[in-house]
Amino acid sequence: MDTMWKSRKVVVVGAGAVGSTFAFALAQKGLADEICLMDANRDFAVGQVMDLSHGLPFYPSVQIRLGEPHDFADAQVIVITAGAKQAPGESRLNLLQKNAAIISAVVDDIVASNSQAVLLIATNPVDILTQVALKRSGWPKNRVIGSGTVLDSARFRYLISQHCKVDVSNVHAYIIGEHGDSEVAAWSMTHVAGVSIDEYCPVCNGCEDWQAARDSIVRQVKDSAYHIISYKGSTYFGIAMSLTRIVGAILQDHNTVLTVSTYLDGEYGLRDVCLGIPSLIGQGGVKRIVQAELRPEELAGLQRSAAELSERYTSLELTGAAA
Ligand code: LAC
Repeated sequence: MDTMWKSRKVVVVGAGAVGSTFAFALAQKGLADEICLMDANRDFAVGQVMDLSHGLPFYPSVQIRLGEPHDFADAQVIVITAGAKQAPGESRLNLLQKNAAIISAVVDDIVASNSQAVLLIATNPVDILTQVALKRSGWPKNRVIGSGTVLDSARFRYLISQHCKVDVSNVHAYIIGEHGDSEVAAWSMTHVAGVSIDEYCPVCNGCEDWQAARDSIVRQVKDSAYHIISYKGSTYFGIAMSLTRIVGAILQDHNTVLTVSTYLDGEYGLRDVCLGIPSLIGQGGVKRIVQAELRPEELAGLQRSAAELSERYTSLELTGAAA
């Protein structure tokens, strides 16, 4: 990587619940030198920046300030959380079209600044909007990624750890595919304390019916956002921590494997689609996609998920919203 950044600067576009909670988490971790927050509603961003800045005496050293379009130029990571929420009775496709237009306008400003940043999309539906941003920007595929199924994988690991009563740091597990209903639990890649889950379950004796327990865990992962939204209207802590992990891996060149949404060009036999897949993340974004041997039913699930995403992306292209 040739580019030398003067500071670890992160621009957050969208200062709502997700953007501001992410900024708060990132500031507390001490991973960034500078966090710039911007929003279509400038006054709202000003208020969020003031509020966040009043924690400065208690964070590790960091600057938090209002972002301006010129801040894109030397940012190391730009995170887009801006977008409309689904209104009652509004179709998903309508939401997708609205958010595709919002993301496209932001991407145009970023590209015009000559930025060398990694662009990280969090706005839903994240996989399709990642593809919109990638195509619109014309940037290399490693530098335009989405939060993908990083949060779903975190929920998956958490639920397995609770069920098996094992520390979550000893659970390795991935949810792949769409960040949404067609996502797939990659049980074949799941390990507890280094032991494959298929070997671990029969000897653990921790539950009556481990197959039923697995089905229930996958159901809970898929329904998590629906449940949280029905209780409190939106989700933001989990996604904020997921974004913090991804951005930290980029800023500190961690080479962490995370299921970000990334563009597939033949990997897993899939082409021209962005979806969540284990990828090595470090400076510059995705360094490598991890190719694993999935079970036939897992691969079939991933193919279905990819087909669904491609269909929805094509529907955007047909209406001109992806252009
Ligand atoms: C969730 C939102 C971020 O899954 O899609 O919580």
